[in-house]
Amino acid sequence: MGLLEIQKLNQYYGESHTLWDVDLDVPRGECVVVMGRNGVGKTTLLRSIMGLLPATGGMKFDGEELVSKPAERRARAGIGYVPQGREIFAQLTVEENLRTGLGARRDSLRELPEMVFDLFPVLKDMLNRRGGDLSGGQQQQLAIGRALAIDPKLLILDEPTEGIQPNIVAQIGDVVDRLRLSREAEQEVADGVDRARTQYGVTVLLVEQKLPFARRLAQRFFILERGRVAAGGTMDELDDDLVAQYLKV
Ligand SMILES: Nc1ncnc2c1ncn2[C@@H]1O[C@H](COP(=O)(O)OP(=O)(O)OP(=O)(O)O)[C@@H](O)[C@H]1O
Ligand SMILES: [Mg+2]
Repeated sequence: MGLLEIQKLNQYYGESHTLWDVDLDVPRGECVVVMGRNGVGKTTLLRSIMGLLPATGGMKFDGEELVSKPAERRARAGIGYVPQGREIFAQLTVEENLRTGLGARRDSLRELPEMVFDLFPVLKDMLNRRGGDLSGGQQQQLAIGRALAIDPKLLILDEPTEGIQPNIVAQIGDVVDRLRLSREAEQEVADGVDRARTQYGVTVLLVEQKLPFARRLAQRFFILERGRVAAGGTMDELDDDLVAQYLKV
């Protein structure tokens, strides 16, 4: 059973029907990538999952029905969301930006979790800088750090590599891999390793247009075409024909 299970999801912007009977399953502990050209409905799908847009159909997260829940309760259920374009607060400091993520925690923890700084040490050195003064790559790291402040079971990322320089793209890839490392795998890590650092086991739903990044991180893919799921499978099933038909511009 998947951590996130979506059945026959439909979404409308007024008269315009944007998502059509979308079925999508995100298995626990995996990274699933949603691909597709510009305007096919990827962001609309993620915003519908987060409850930021109204949608109909079945959506279960960790066994609980989501569709009737308001956005705030979905985050609290353990879904961290990194929106396209990052949407960090330019006038707030890095620390204040991170703290906005704490509001949705299930527990009453008021301290920023150490894991944010383990994964993004650069943020620790910049706590008092304004969000707007950071580079694009640093802002993306901040947006991911903010989503991790709730200690999510599922992390949703919308085109995290868009407009980001290659070395930061690689770092973000490393972080997503580390986050996904399962608790079981961690048991096998040799003594002396700080356990808390590898006990993440976060499941990942990624929207990405860059194929090499998607191939590096994901185990499964779904392709959207005009609001419908056109194809899906394991990454080795994403062949040249599918790429040519649905992903090449
Ligand atoms: N607020 C809105 N009101 C009406 N239509 C919208 C709105 N936002 C998006 N759309 C339309 O919904 C469709 C899907 O848009 P969406 O942003 O989900 O695509 P996307 O796959 O994320 O694209 P991109 O790769 O450019 O980010 C597009 O046709 C878009 O024009
Ligand atoms: Mg988008």
